[in-house]
Amino acid sequence: MDRYAVIGNPVAHSKSPTIHAAFAAQTGQTLAYEALLAPLDGFAATVAAFRAAGGRGCNVTVPFKLEAFALAERRSPRAQAAGAVNTLKFDADGIYGDNTDGAGLVRDLTHNLDCPLAGRRILLLGAGGAARGVMLPLLAAAPARLTLANRTVARAEALVAEFAAGAGNTPLAAGGFTDLAGAQFDVVINATAASLADEAPPLPPGLYAPGALAYDMMYGRGDTAFLAAARRDGAARLADGLGMLVEQAAESFLLWRDVRPETAPVLAELRRQIEGR
Ligand code: ATR
Repeated sequence: MDRYAVIGNPVAHSKSPTIHAAFAAQTGQTLAYEALLAPLDGFAATVAAFRAAGGRGCNVTVPFKLEAFALAERRSPRAQAAGAVNTLKFDADGIYGDNTDGAGLVRDLTHNLDCPLAGRRILLLGAGGAARGVMLPLLAAAPARLTLANRTVARAEALVAEFAAGAGNTPLAAGGFTDLAGAQFDVVINATAASLADEAPPLPPGLYAPGALAYDMMYGRGDTAFLAAARRDGAARLADGLGMLVEQAAESFLLWRDVRPETAPVLAELRRQIEGR
């Protein structure tokens, strides 16, 4: 049987095995998908052992996405731009690295949430790996403008400088949170790690244009601190990152199996489990 895995540390909490098992059942694909804990100093060895045991590909999660990038012998343009790899595929040509996170975010916004990005004003909060990973797919969606705001302004400026050449006609701007005062956006995406500490980026009031969507890449039971603040500040719509998780998995599945699974039933079931319903 074709074997796949998610490799991380920690990894026991990962929902990827559940998601990929559902995709396999739904599409009639025969495969096994497991969670593999790699020692912090043993990512490459874990991948090599999995390959030797018949592994065909794997997802890569915290903290190994940069090591997976380095391990890949060939990479997709979106992985190259992200500087990180969340999906490896093993075949006769060696190790191929892809990054499906940004495509997963864009697909969740445009398909599941019916939130078109073309011509919209997008604010991306954060300038770490999570933000970098979604820059290219967001720009490819042709927004009216893409603004990056980060606690450490220099990191946002560096990221914008790096992507400026590939931004086409999309105006790109970088700044700190206070620089946002007076501006309005249609889509505000939180790619900071603040929600992990149950904190919200300190945003000025009035950022949300009428009908605007607030999106947190994190997910969990109930609102994150960012979503709670967005609700108070008048965001018309709120979404967490569970749909992004399922959509990035579907993109990986497509890469490996050449078939795109239906995500809606899988997302609905996962939502039921998380909300404890
Ligand atoms: P990741 O790979 O998850 O993006 P990272 O590279 O460490 O992790 O980046 C974390 C991001 O969250 C950064 O943009 C960070 O801001 P700084 O660049 O100023 O450090 C942001 N961040 C973390 N905690 C935050 C908080 N409490 N409020 C606002 N931003 C926060």
